[in-house]
Amino acid sequence: MGELVGRAVAGEPKEIVARGYDAIALRYAEWAGRIDSPTLEWVRDLDARLADGADVLELGCGRGVPTTRELARRHRVTGIDISAVQIELARHHVPEASFVHADATELLVAEASLDAVVALFLFGHVPIDEQRDLITRIGLWLRPGGHLLSTFGAGEPGEDVEEDWLGAPMFFASLGGDAYGPILRDAGLETIRDEVVPQHEPGHGEVSFRWLLARADN
Ligand SMILES: C[S@@+](CC[C@H](N)C(=O)[O-])C[C@H]1O[C@@H](n2cnc3c(N)ncnc32)[C@H](O)[C@@H]1O
Repeated sequence: MGELVGRAVAGEPKEIVARGYDAIALRYAEWAGRIDSPTLEWVRDLDARLADGADVLELGCGRGVPTTRELARRHRVTGIDISAVQIELARHHVPEASFVHADATELLVAEASLDAVVALFLFGHVPIDEQRDLITRIGLWLRPGGHLLSTFGAGEPGEDVEEDWLGAPMFFASLGGDAYGPILRDAGLETIRDEVVPQHEPGHGEVSFRWLLARADN
């Protein structure tokens, strides 16, 4: 018998995430639409700080609703998502924005080329040992005075695979709610708004996220 190659788990974290969202994209859309999330209020806060036609990169844009759609009304928005199905939905919902099917941690972006980076409910799917590096690179991509709007896990640090999250295995990670402020500072990002906001998730109960709006002070 030849050498047997296999994996004990369903795959690498990011394969789990990409396959998961490909499988559950429509169910996620329906579920997320029932969450009373503060997304639009934070996105409008960011929008009000940007000049017309700002260059905005959205990481983990999902199906493009509501965030990409809201920002694309006035800005040049590029959405990135690791799930091909999410990107197809986003192209359908927000034809005026540009979309790229890619892993946010593998992006090559010119330094000081962006006015804003948005990453809502993304970092919770990024492996712990890649999160600091992504934040550092976002700091380099932003023009002086550019903004980052992001959510992070608010609870304890850790990584986990939930075997049945809305019908598919899903990978989750957090450095812990208190870790992100100092990491943003190290990346040259000054926090200008910082709130832990609980939201009620149908079927999952109350889940809190740390919402951070920061400005590149380089
Ligand atoms: C919880 S959904 C949030 C979608 C959207 N930001 C929103 O607020 O509705 C997370 C999205 O991030 C994407 N994602 C997760 N890890 C990613 C990565 N490493 N690179 C790009 N996209 C990623 C997923 O495919 C999914 O569409």
